[in-house]
Amino acid sequence: MGFDALVLGAGVYGLSIATELTNRGLKVAIVARDLPEDLTSTGFASPWAGCNWQSFEVAGTPDAEWDAITFKKLAVVAREHPDLCKLIPFVVVSDDPNEPLPWYSSLVPNCRKIDATPEAPLPGGFPTSINFDSYILHAPNYLQHLAKGLRDRGVPIIRRRLASLDEAYDLPETGSVDLVVNALALGNRSLIGVEDDKMYPAGGQTVLVKAPLVNTCVMSVDKVFDPLPGTTGPAPISEMAYIIPRPGPEGTVILGGTYNRDNHSVLPDLATAERILQDCYALEPLLAGPGGKSWRDIEVVAHNVGLRPARKGGVRLEVEQRELGGAPAGAHAHLAPPSRAPRRRKVAVVHAYGPGGKGYQSSIGLAEKAADLVVGQLARVPAASKL
Ligand code: LAC
Repeated sequence: MGFDALVLGAGVYGLSIATELTNRGLKVAIVARDLPEDLTSTGFASPWAGCNWQSFEVAGTPDAEWDAITFKKLAVVAREHPDLCKLIPFVVVSDDPNEPLPWYSSLVPNCRKIDATPEAPLPGGFPTSINFDSYILHAPNYLQHLAKGLRDRGVPIIRRRLASLDEAYDLPETGSVDLVVNALALGNRSLIGVEDDKMYPAGGQTVLVKAPLVNTCVMSVDKVFDPLPGTTGPAPISEMAYIIPRPGPEGTVILGGTYNRDNHSVLPDLATAERILQDCYALEPLLAGPGGKSWRDIEVVAHNVGLRPARKGGVRLEVEQRELGGAPAGAHAHLAPPSRAPRRRKVAVVHAYGPGGKGYQSSIGLAEKAADLVVGQLARVPAASKL
């Protein structure tokens, strides 16, 4: 009891923000429907991530800064936990012979453009590639690692499903709190008091395979991968091919993928799985092993679908001042369970959600900025009102 802040959500955003707040000496608890151990829950986005650092941002934006901060901090993770995070060669193939270097070309080591020659063809026969070194993460194990770090420092991670944001301020397990960090994902569409209709699922299907000889990340990712600003309604399935090795002794590799806007299905489509294996084999025949002759020789470990928590207009990172116990807040407040604290009081929420497919690569930088908002909010509350 007596928490400075309650973090909603135990995905990579919730855990990273809780870690940053704990590092800054705050007392926090996490409340989530899916816990970091729920690695097969398809209601939970984080376990299904690729998960590599390849920024999709535009130079000079806040989002690019989150990615840059994260990139630098991943060096520490890679040094201390090589089974969780590793710097490896990346090859981003392109149809465009004039492909410019990305904004992060001076951030990542060895960034250069390569043109195919008859003597040295590029993966998949592409004319051009942008090559550099960047990080791969073991998504499920990284989640476990963050959760263990928090629990070891006494941060409770409590399973509870909320219907309304107001409930969070007076839970039986955590008592009265005045500040909530909202790091939920698609739940923000229906959480009463948030009801963010800009949130939408962007389904991603992948195939986890065993291919210990493959140690390069190859990306053939269409530009439509990122949600287009102002997009409405369902869009056609957008296809891409990528090969993301996972660090660690298992020798597994994630092959993708799809970007399936507004589709809530979490069932793998087997025709799509075949398409992914074929396209990835065309990029890297070693996926089938040294004796492999076709994509059919690739050793499949699992078929996965995750719902990226995407948001029209991008990530929401801001403080919202709220009042409990007054007039019902939110368009559907009448549907909320009764509040446990009818006493009127001023509270706040720091929203930090909606990264779509860039959760991990932005997570540490985003967590620093979210923590700045939390600390700023706590500083503006006069000490007396905290009693
Ligand atoms: C995805 C990988 C590229 O979201 O991060 O499919």
